[in-house]
Amino acid sequence: MRGKRVLLGITGGIAAYKIAGLIRLLRKEGADVKCIMTPASCDFISPLTIATLSEHPVQIEFWDRRNGSWTNHVDLGLWPDLFLITPLTANTLAKLAHGYADNLLTATYLSARCPVMIAPAMDLDMYAHLTTTENLERLRGHGVRVLEAQYGELASGLVGQGRMMEPEDQLKEVKNFFQGAHDLEGKRVLITAGPTYEKIDPVRFIGNHSSGKMGYRLAESALRRGAEVILVSGPSAQRLEHPALQLIRVESALEMLEEVKKQWEQCDLGIFAAAVADYRPAEATDQKIKKKEDEMSIRLVKNPDILAWAGSVKKESQFLVGFALETNDAVRHAEEKRARKNLDLIVLNTLEEAGSGFQVDTNRVHLIDRNNKLTSFELKEKSVVAEDIIEFIKSRL
Ligand code: CTP
Repeated sequence: MRGKRVLLGITGGIAAYKIAGLIRLLRKEGADVKCIMTPASCDFISPLTIATLSEHPVQIEFWDRRNGSWTNHVDLGLWPDLFLITPLTANTLAKLAHGYADNLLTATYLSARCPVMIAPAMDLDMYAHLTTTENLERLRGHGVRVLEAQYGELASGLVGQGRMMEPEDQLKEVKNFFQGAHDLEGKRVLITAGPTYEKIDPVRFIGNHSSGKMGYRLAESALRRGAEVILVSGPSAQRLEHPALQLIRVESALEMLEEVKKQWEQCDLGIFAAAVADYRPAEATDQKIKKKEDEMSIRLVKNPDILAWAGSVKKESQFLVGFALETNDAVRHAEEKRARKNLDLIVLNTLEEAGSGFQVDTNRVHLIDRNNKLTSFELKEKSVVAEDIIEFIKSRL
């Protein structure tokens, strides 16, 4: 990162004390680091510490009363190759999402021409609040990269999602941005995501609790590295837009299979993260089923295994990754599944581990390769897990 210019924006959250460490990590990698602090952040870490570590004066106000100089936010906005706002409080997040320019940091955000990353940090209820979710979505839609808050103990003593992403992981993101941005260029990646809905009648279906988040984060990570991505998604509230993304929405396993069959041959890499329903109703009626007897039964038939199909026609040059969710004897079952479906890699989640699985934002994964070599990762937020998985796959391609 020698010579790369990183502008850090520091806002008033307790995690601001960790930014000293982040600046050291960035400096060690050779980046040139300048910092803007909001006045509130100066209560959490001293500007002198930040200035000393970054080896640049810290910018806080528009107007430096001591020597009568004006800090030009437009110049500051044009200086960096990357603007990273960390930690980002709910308050400044709301301002960024709505175009406020009431301090040097928010004004510089509006002036910045470079890519922007944000690392939100706040208490769990603030993070979960619909307003915060909407503000983050809004910034995502503007192309801002969100380094999602992590799970764990918070300053309030509560435990939940809201911790700032650790400086070491932020460094990885910044390094990826500068170095790895193009390491999947020229690759076409097929990803399946979300649940499938299997129709019973016009108003009912059999489904599962998969949110689709893991698949969408994998797609985002591959896109960031320059890949062309085809995302075949079951019903999911997740959203993603990118010029190199083809998003195909489907409902059922049969529809997903049909789309995968159209796409797989032209792809270099397949990552099948969808939670496909194993069975579907043998007959779906066009009329709503009326209630009659005290009991009713629905006959189910097995769905085709989409991943196994892709494995069965896989060419030497293609790399195929599947997921396994196991509850007992996890590694043995996953190894067997990897071999049976002819996969190059299987990502194992075990429900034995708290924080993994459906409808949670974290995951702890274990990767098993063709030689049954096991690589385990820590419990992390799903966007960080996606980075780990894509990084690992890239090393094997
Ligand atoms: N998969 C698929 N099509 C199916 C079922 C599963 O593509 N009809 C893919 C999933 O996307 C995932 C992997 O296969 O990558 C999961 O394999 P599966 O055999 O369904 O295992 P689990 O659901 O984890 O467990 P079980 O063995 O209990 O079915």
